[in-house]
Amino acid sequence: MREPVANAGKDARACLGARWIWTISLLCCVSAGGLPTGAHADVAAGQAKAQVCVACHGPMGNSTNPDYPILAGQTARYLYLELQDFKAGRRSDPRMSPIVTGLSRDDMRDLADYFAAQRPEPVPYKADPIKVEAGRRKAEAVLCTMCHLGGFSGQNEIPRVAGQYDQYIVKQLQDFRARRRTNDAGNMTSVSKGLSDEDIENLAAYVANLQ
Ligand code: HEC
Ligand code: HEC
Repeated sequence: MREPVANAGKDARACLGARWIWTISLLCCVSAGGLPTGAHADVAAGQAKAQVCVACHGPMGNSTNPDYPILAGQTARYLYLELQDFKAGRRSDPRMSPIVTGLSRDDMRDLADYFAAQRPEPVPYKADPIKVEAGRRKAEAVLCTMCHLGGFSGQNEIPRVAGQYDQYIVKQLQDFRARRRTNDAGNMTSVSKGLSDEDIENLAAYVANLQ
């Protein structure tokens, strides 16, 4: 579990990461000459490494199965931190955890850059307007967008949740509330503590319905 001070840890990791990207950019410019920046090289490398992910997360991270989260258009920083957390056992799932054991730090960074660069395709979702409205009101009352930003578009280590699968959102909120998922530095644990099952359903309907 990340301690409450883990945000400081994340910042430290961010600095390390930035230095790492800078080094790689230099290496890429030297070795691959034609590529304008290291970031492009990371996306290309990520694409090749992402072949194994497609089986569950769908083509280009646009999952077609509500059991598996959409990765396309997620923030690169959040994707990278989640992969690290799965690898370190801070977050675990019987389907996802075995996938990360062989991934290096470079692999995780390339994969994160690749999926972040993909366009999320809207999934057909028939929202119940009553749930959506109740979810909207709850989200406003709990100030979800203070962290997730308006429209749940996400920023840095805070995930984009807009347009994510309803079923996946419900599972995550339940996991945070039951402390089965504790890799959030306490933010989501305290948010979800006060939510009823009905609140969770309504919030998921509202957020899944956002594009
Ligand atoms: C066997 C199916 C499977 C494969 C293959 C797979 N994943 Fe996953 N992945 C999952 C499941 C299931 C979850 C959601 C776990 C949960 O409910 O908490 C997940 C969650 C994630 C998350 C967290 C997403 C979020 O919104 O929090 C990331 C990031 C991720 N996977 C990346 C990858 C990458 C990168 C690959 C390929 C290297 C990959 N996955 C391959 C099943 C899979
Ligand atoms: C204090 C900041 C904060 C607030 C307020 C907040 N969140 Fe979060 N949320 C986060 C962070 C940080 C994460 C990522 C945790 C991690 O590192 O794994 C997250 C993760 C999530 C996830 C998991 C996404 C995924 O892809 O697995 C969902 C769903 C979510 N939040 C929904 C909500 C909803 C709904 C509300 C309002 C009821 C809310 N959040 C309020 C900070 C916040």
